[in-house]
Amino acid sequence: KRVGVLISGSGTNLQALIDATLDPLSQMGCEIVLVLSNKPNVQGLERAERVNIPTKVLSHKDYSSREDFDKAMHNELVAAGVDIVCLAGFMRILSGEFTRKWKGKLINVHPALLPLFKGTHAQKQALEAGVRVSGCSVHFVEEDVDAGAIITQETVPIEVNDTEDILIERIKTAEHKAFPRALKLLATEKVKLGDNNKIIWS
Ligand code: GRF
Repeated sequence: KRVGVLISGSGTNLQALIDATLDPLSQMGCEIVLVLSNKPNVQGLERAERVNIPTKVLSHKDYSSREDFDKAMHNELVAAGVDIVCLAGFMRILSGEFTRKWKGKLINVHPALLPLFKGTHAQKQALEAGVRVSGCSVHFVEEDVDAGAIITQETVPIEVNDTEDILIERIKTAEHKAFPRALKLLATEKVKLGDNNKIIWS
C-alpha cells in the first residue's frame, strides 16, 4: 500500500512511521510515498527529505476556502497514487468532502484516550481532570473532530508532579508505538471500517 502523511510540525510521529516502514522486519505492508505539509520549513519535511521521500508544501493561506485547500491536497495524494492517508500532527480541520473521499483510508493520532479529551491541549485537559492514566488513540477520521472508530490505544501513567510538557513527551513516546501498529493493521487489512462506521476485525 502507498501511504501519504500530512504534517504541520516537528514530525516525530512521521519519524516513527518512517522507521517502521523502512524496517523490513516490521512487515508493515506499506511504504510512505508522499509527505505533505501545510507549513514550510518544518522539521518533519527534513525527516522525509533525509530518506528521499518526496515532500510537498501546500500552504492553506494560498487558498480562499478550506474546501479549495483540501481539494488541492486531495489532488496531490491522488497524483502520488496514495491508498492510505496518515495525519501525523496535521493541525488543520479537514472538510467533510475530504473525509468522505478518504473514508476508511484516513487515520489520525490523538494524544488522549478517546472519547475523553477531544480537541486541542488534550494533555492539559487530562491534567486538569485529575485522571491518573492517559495515553493516545489512533482512529479512523470522520468529519467530527477526534471522532471515528478507534483502531488502537496505548496508555501512560500520570505522575503526581507531571507538568504539561512532561506529559506531552510521555504520550508522544506512546504515540510512536501505537501509530505504526495501527498503520500496519490497516495496510495489511487486519482492520477496516464498516458501513456503520464501526471497525471490522479480520
Ligand atoms: C502529537 O502529539 C499528535 O497527537 C498531535 O500533534 C502532535 C504531533 O507531534 N495531533 P509530532 O509533529 O508528530 O512530533
